[in-house]
Amino acid sequence: MRIKYTISVVFFVTLVIIEKENNILSRVSDKLALKQTPQTPLQPSGSFNILLKNNGSFTSLGKMDSAFTLMKRRLENYSEHQEILTRGKKHILLLATTRTGSSFVGEFFNQQDDNMFYLFEPLWHVEKMLTLKTGGTNATASVEAYRDVLQKLFLCDFSLLESFIEPLPVDHITPNLFRRESSSSLCEESVCSPVVKGVFERYRCKTRRCGPLNLTMASQSCLQKEHRAIKSVRVRQLETLRPLAEDPRLDVRFIQLVRDPRAVLASRMVAFAAKYKNWKQWALNGDVPIDDDEVRKLKGNCQNIAMSAGVGLRQPSWLRRRYMLVRYEDIARFPMRKATEMYRFAGIPFTPQVKSWILKNTQASKEASGVYSTQKNSSEQVEKWRFSIPFKIAQVVQRVCGPTMKLFGYKLVSSEEMLTNKSISLIEDKVFNFV
Ligand SMILES: *[C@@H]1O[C@H](CO)[C@@H](O)[C@H](O)[C@H]1NC(C)=O
Ligand SMILES: *[C@@H]1O[C@H](CO)[C@@H](O)[C@H](O)[C@H]1NC(C)=O
Ligand SMILES: *[C@@H]1O[C@H](CO)[C@@H](O)[C@H](O)[C@H]1NC(C)=O
Ligand SMILES: *[C@@H]1O[C@H](CO)[C@@H](O)[C@H](O)[C@H]1NC(C)=O
Ligand SMILES: *[C@@H]1O[C@H](CO)[C@@H](O)[C@H](O)[C@H]1NC(C)=O
Ligand SMILES: *[C@@H]1O[C@H](CO)[C@@H](O)[C@H](O)[C@H]1NC(C)=O
Repeated sequence: MRIKYTISVVFFVTLVIIEKENNILSRVSDKLALKQTPQTPLQPSGSFNILLKNNGSFTSLGKMDSAFTLMKRRLENYSEHQEILTRGKKHILLLATTRTGSSFVGEFFNQQDDNMFYLFEPLWHVEKMLTLKTGGTNATASVEAYRDVLQKLFLCDFSLLESFIEPLPVDHITPNLFRRESSSSLCEESVCSPVVKGVFERYRCKTRRCGPLNLTMASQSCLQKEHRAIKSVRVRQLETLRPLAEDPRLDVRFIQLVRDPRAVLASRMVAFAAKYKNWKQWALNGDVPIDDDEVRKLKGNCQNIAMSAGVGLRQPSWLRRRYMLVRYEDIARFPMRKATEMYRFAGIPFTPQVKSWILKNTQASKEASGVYSTQKNSSEQVEKWRFSIPFKIAQVVQRVCGPTMKLFGYKLVSSEEMLTNKSISLIEDKVFNFV
């Protein structure tokens, strides 16, 4: 009896130590409400001593047995959880809107293809299928579908995404995966099936000729990679992705990419000329309707972005250490510094592979050789929009996106002169703190 008791106490105390050290099961001990008994047969020492002094003996064997069983079960749960954590897989979700440089930033992760499985806009299929005849998307349905598809993809499960691909893949094979060639993981040899005669591959791999994508192979490749990253411009509210942050199978890091809404509009007017022809017309004749659908849409977009960032910056417990806000302008001016910060945030080593890609694709190499600075050159790129957008249009953006601009540190302009005066920066230095 005494031996059983002693062994159990030692075992239990060991569990308690593990628990305390890992600070994961700490609430259990409170619940057990252990009471001091004077006739404790054990003379503890060392760390046992400390623990026992801190409320450490037991009233009855019965109580202890149940506590012991509970602990054992908790420990099993804990081991499962820990196994996932120690495997160190990271799941990075790059959240943005169009024309904010998200493809460029996506490359920071895509370039690390030996241990990263990167997907470029998989939600394109979901949005396309959920687009109503009226042109909009079903908000309720898309929120759920986006969340669930992302969750499955982070687990390397393509089945739900498949159901949104048109035409429906046959035997998990499709020639239609949107922008397959933008994911180096989907163009690797192991995912490259033989070319099929007569089947037109819509988004062809550039590195090698491949047949239609076998999604079973894609899934296997995904499972073999250490980390996973997905870029999407389609999620409207960060809050809707909370279940991903709370999924114990995932270790999700959200990186939200934002840009000056005046610059975004200027860029979209060029990139999506047909969709923005109203704006172009207004830019030409100089007056913008106060209450137009397009203006309301712009306002809604700005509000969504600010709301997501608001949640992220508030750091609710479900997002702690999982959210990072990055401004396009900072990436354009300091690409290497920002990439390093993103990798540090994601908890992934920053490889020479990624570094050299950034050097090659920005002016950073010239900075090193001292010809001229990255910052100066990229600043010019960053400020180009100021000469392509009329002051009137900038004013409209400021009117409907003011709070969003303030949140991210974009200075409002009060005159045409200020808009086009290069010696006045419209980007405030701003540090977003993450604890
Ligand atoms: C031990 O328990 C007592 C009463 O339950 C409590 O007042 C005291 O703070 C506890 N000591 C420690 C170190 O937790
Ligand atoms: C173990 O985990 C399962 C599922 O997460 C949960 O339902 C159960 O209550 C946990 N058991 C204990 C003892 O914590
Ligand atoms: C939108 O999706 C919801 C949920 O799936 C559905 O109940 C509703 O009928 C859909 N609305 C339209 C207009 O399709
Ligand atoms: C797709 O890949 C899987 C895994 O390699 C393989 O078992 C399956 O036969 C392939 N499907 C087709 C139709 O080739
Ligand atoms: C900045 O870089 C771009 C792209 O390489 C180049 O075309 C441009 O001439 C550079 N501008 C200056 C001022 O050096
Ligand atoms: C531009 O702004 C600077 C600093 O405020 C000012 O000194 C300069 O006169 C301005 N240039 C023009 C052309 O308005």
